[in-house]
Amino acid sequence: MPNTRWTIVTGASSGIGAEIARQFSAIGHNLVLVARRREKMEALAAELTAADRGFVEIVELDLAEPDAPAKLHAQVTQMGLGVHTLVNNAGFGLRGEFVDLGLEEQVTMIELNVTALTRLSRLFLPDLIKRGQGGILNVSSLAAFQAGPHMAVYHATKAYVLSLSEALHEEAKPFGVTVTALCPGATESEFGARAGMEGSRLFSRARMDAARVAKIGVEAYRAGHAVSTPGTRNKLVKALGRVLPRSVMRKAAGEMVG
Ligand SMILES: NC(=O)c1ccc[n+]([C@@H]2O[C@H](COP(=O)([O-])OP(=O)(O)OC[C@H]3O[C@@H](n4cnc5c(N)ncnc54)[C@H](OP(=O)(O)O)[C@@H]3O)[C@@H](O)[C@H]2O)c1
Repeated sequence: MPNTRWTIVTGASSGIGAEIARQFSAIGHNLVLVARRREKMEALAAELTAADRGFVEIVELDLAEPDAPAKLHAQVTQMGLGVHTLVNNAGFGLRGEFVDLGLEEQVTMIELNVTALTRLSRLFLPDLIKRGQGGILNVSSLAAFQAGPHMAVYHATKAYVLSLSEALHEEAKPFGVTVTALCPGATESEFGARAGMEGSRLFSRARMDAARVAKIGVEAYRAGHAVSTPGTRNKLVKALGRVLPRSVMRKAAGEMVG
């Protein structure tokens, strides 16, 4: 019988998103890959279809554009794809002082990490609720658990993603739909270079493998968890945040990045 489960993965052209796509493909989902770099998504699609892993559609979109989420929803609806899972993974960070980083690039970060994720969730959640299964996997960050000097806006965007996801988890649960926030710590991907973090203390330590992060996140989502924090060290940092004052946690976060 042909597969009827479609999973949309934003930011599927590299890093954690590409690995999440591989995970869903391995469990038999068809995929809609979304990002700006078509050639990278084509290479991933070729890999997955060569392995006879179902159908893969590619949608080249800049999700920081205000009308991009609606375009994606319209395209997927028009194609008649039965969306089972939405993965809001596309995102980026910027290291630097709030007053030194450009206003527009920080606002673009909010538009991608927060606004596009919110628009896509609002557009697709009613369909998922009607379907009565599946859900949304939102990629937040360990950064969500404390304020982050020298990465102030990035931490704030990820705190928003965590909070929204936890609330939607409760709202969607009665309908058989799961919303999960995945909160990775430093992970091997293009993120560090894009954020200007390569020389930071945080990124000079061992980073988690993106495939491992993706596997843990997808398993947590399929198990119906609200929040998933991959890795023992990251779990410890999260636990420390429950016992130490926020002033201590934010200073420590700043020292890791500054
Ligand atoms: N790596 C870490 O240490 C870490 C830790 C915690 C959380 N995270 C989060 O994990 C998520 C994935 O990041 P990653 O580590 O895998 O980094 P990555 O390798 O840089 O991947 C980011 C993905 O987002 C896409 N993207 C960026 N801007 C976009 C835009 N305007 N429109 C559409 N797609 C866009 C990129 O594709 P294109 O460039 O082709 O558009 C790429 O596929 C992000 O939300 C990030 O905040 C990462």
